Amino acid sequence: DRMTINVSEFYRNKQRWDVLENKIFPRLLAERKSLKIWSAASSTGEEPYTIAMVLSKYIPLSSISILATDLDSNAIEKAKIGIYPERSLNEVPVEMKKKYFTLEGTYYRVSDEIKKTVTFKQHNLLADSFESNFDLIVCRNVLIYFTEEAKDLLYHKFNSALRTGGTLFVGSTEQIFNPQSYNFTIEDTFFYKKM
Ligand SMILES: C[S@@+](CC[C@H](N)C(=O)[O-])C[C@H]1O[C@@H](n2cnc3c(N)ncnc32)[C@H](O)[C@@H]1O
Repeated sequence: DRMTINVSEFYRNKQRWDVLENKIFPRLLAERKSLKIWSAASSTGEEPYTIAMVLSKYIPLSSISILATDLDSNAIEKAKIGIYPERSLNEVPVEMKKKYFTLEGTYYRVSDEIKKTVTFKQHNLLADSFESNFDLIVCRNVLIYFTEEAKDLLYHKFNSALRTGGTLFVGSTEQIFNPQSYNFTIEDTFFYKKM
């Protein structure tokens, strides 16, 4: 149960998303027109939907496709429904809130056009195989629960799953101690670029 604590929110640690928007996406989009993106341990969907909102500043939603996976099938079901309490939206920029959410009673529903950008699948980071050739992998606030041995294996597997020049975005307490040993360079704090 501790492993599947689903706590999440939109734009969690907002300053990190500003780095994704202003530095990482412009570089990735200069290198490739269409990006392959994975939100690993996506919980109830706030994270992949945030990725879509941030990327929508650069490209139309109709050309965005994000893979979102989690171990917990209940979390995935909630993500697909896409209804959230106000506290999950505390960090959402006003223009995004206006554009992509509708208030229903005391809850907010995320728009269908944002939902359509995300494909949810059940996936166990510790047991299942990874796709490859990602431009961006976002994996935040889950590795803290894993052993050092599991983290070590996952950093190697994330590296293999990225294309050269692709980036891994980690949680705010999850800096990689020795990124070079996994073939990563530091692109910014919490962003690791595959060498
Ligand atoms: C605290 S939430 C993080 C959600 C989101 N990434 C964020 O940062 O807001 C942790 C998520 O990791 C998932 N999780 C735990 N163990 C996992 C595993 N072995 N494989 C995939 N997901 C896992 C849980 O189900 C939970 O939804």
